Amino acid sequence: MSELPRHIAIIMDGNGRWAKQRQLPRLEGHRRGSETVELITESCRELGIEYLTLYAFSQENWNRPSEEVGGLMDLLRYFLSQKRQKLLDNEIRLRVIGQVDRLPERVLRELTKTIHATRHCEKMTLVLALSYSSRSELTELINQMIRGAMAEGDASRVVREEEIDRQLYTEGLPDPDLLIRTSGEHRISNFLLWQMAYTELYFTETLWPDFDRAELEKAIHEYQKRERRF
Ligand code: FPP
Repeated sequence: MSELPRHIAIIMDGNGRWAKQRQLPRLEGHRRGSETVELITESCRELGIEYLTLYAFSQENWNRPSEEVGGLMDLLRYFLSQKRQKLLDNEIRLRVIGQVDRLPERVLRELTKTIHATRHCEKMTLVLALSYSSRSELTELINQMIRGAMAEGDASRVVREEEIDRQLYTEGLPDPDLLIRTSGEHRISNFLLWQMAYTELYFTETLWPDFDRAELEKAIHEYQKRERRF
């Protein structure tokens, strides 16, 4: 059998359009989208995917109307508190990437609890990108390195690629093998720019709330068909 991707990253897009097509409020699209999060996490676990990274909230998303941002935060808090036991039962570790200090206290509390509770789980790692921006991740890292070199008075400091890997939020995670983006958009949207240098990209017209296990398997199958050249 062809190899499974070790790490799948997903840009979950199309919740708003899904809701609009049904004349429902946008938040209903996000709520259905969070059900897909649960379904796809379970499917990945059953299929034997080791790492799943979901772009759940970008830094750009802070600019959405406050009602929508608040609704998304409530969904996150609900997911983190209500699905904690399910993550534990399935031995799924939770990790987060992004500027989490910008998250409201109520979300941060549940996030910290779930990360702590699942820290020993080893069957799969679910990574949530929250308040994430790849450019700010890289900018922050460059600034840190400049400060470090200045503090050491080392003007001839040379940075190696592995050092960058070690200082990103994704430290210790393998780079994604497969990126899936739903809803027919063909962009990377400031997601894991450094980490996706060699990632296979897969785009589907399906809106995130309609994405299901069969769609996931289709994407994996497509990945397996592609010849990987580095
Ligand atoms: C894009 O849809 C999706 C988001 C901005 C957020 C993704 C969030 C969830 C799936 C729910 C909460 C997450 C978890 C982990 C419980 P869009 O609003 O940009 O859709 P549109 O492009 O059709 O308007």
